[in-house]
Amino acid sequence: MEEVTNKYIAIKAKVDGIPKESDFEVKTEQFSLSVKPGSNDIIIKNLYVSIDPYQINRMKTASASQKTSNYAVAIAPGEVIDAYGVGKVVASGNPQFEKGDYVVGMISWGEYSISQGLILSKLDPMGLPLSYHVGVLGFSGLTAYAGFFEVCKPKKGEKVFVSAASGSVGNLVGQYAKSLGCYVVGCAGSTKKVELLKETLGFDEAFNYKEETDLHSTLERYFPEGIDIYFDNVGAEMLDAAVSNMNLYGRIAVCGVISEYLDAGKRAAPDMLSVIYKRINIRGFLAGDYMNLFPEFVSTTVDHIQTGKIHVLEDVSSGIESIPSAFLGLFSGSNVGKKIVKLSDE
Ligand SMILES: NC(=O)c1ccc[n+]([C@@H]2O[C@H](COP(=O)([O-])OP(=O)(O)OC[C@H]3O[C@@H](n4cnc5c(N)ncnc54)[C@H](OP(=O)(O)O)[C@@H]3O)[C@@H](O)[C@H]2O)c1
Repeated sequence: MEEVTNKYIAIKAKVDGIPKESDFEVKTEQFSLSVKPGSNDIIIKNLYVSIDPYQINRMKTASASQKTSNYAVAIAPGEVIDAYGVGKVVASGNPQFEKGDYVVGMISWGEYSISQGLILSKLDPMGLPLSYHVGVLGFSGLTAYAGFFEVCKPKKGEKVFVSAASGSVGNLVGQYAKSLGCYVVGCAGSTKKVELLKETLGFDEAFNYKEETDLHSTLERYFPEGIDIYFDNVGAEMLDAAVSNMNLYGRIAVCGVISEYLDAGKRAAPDMLSVIYKRINIRGFLAGDYMNLFPEFVSTTVDHIQTGKIHVLEDVSSGIESIPSAFLGLFSGSNVGKKIVKLSDE
């Protein structure tokens, strides 16, 4: 039975404060590359893993929202951290997978994973880079597609605002909105990101939210005729400012509240009287509820990539040891586009 040393990332203890690299460790374990006779296991060599903000909420002492939902199950110190990614099957006891298959789904922040095939599919790379199947054609892409088209129900010409717009989900929301013929404004945390949104991704306007002192008047400036759709990735005061600038029957898709992940004190209740008077629909959603859209999302997005309507924005680091800094970078805004860690050559 062939064994290798598998390196994986774990937290040392629950991460309740501001996370830092010393909260993480690289652990090693002896890992068998053979499947036990009669087992359904799939042994995977991990190639690319997704780095996602929601993992921080799994690292904290369980919050009330975690206790009342089955999403984002807590991660225990020392444990392997499951994460979305692409890998290659090394051995399989599961008849649906064979050695040499590319797979996409839940693998781990480690060099190898073992799966029972529950959230795992065979992957046809379609001649595209494998990393695309982690980001633009993976869960981030589905989040943008389902959140924008299904939750926001956009119409051509509507006015759309996207926060964390240079990030993995946000940049795609903006590009989908442009492909539909909407007026799109994004916000991001640096001048360079703002330029990228306008010059490379085709946003109509963009601004650096860190340079703005009054977000209510900033949004009024960019949306003199009001906002029809706000795709919220950040929560807190940006949500409040958006509500005050929404049009009648506006839609807000609450995708994420990253500005509150490290600082629950930042939570701000939007002006609910405005929500009522303007009949605003504020809706939280999880991409996982829209798996039925996956085939439609992939074919539309591949077409948009091939026709140049979607510019793929990825930010790839290499090696298992780079995972903690890649992850922490999401909260300081060091990533541009989908953050991915490459773990091995194909
Ligand atoms: N509902 C779902 O199913 C689902 C699925 C995937 C992701 N999400 C959520 O969607 C959001 C975006 O996720 P992503 O994977 O696309 O990450 P991402 O946008 O690629 O990376 C996070 C970005 O958020 C911005 N940010 C960090 N701290 C911030 C703060 N305090 N205020 C404002 N912006 C801040 C940073 O950009 P700047 O330089 O612009 O600050 C950073 O680059 C997250 O809230 C995530 O939890 C939800």
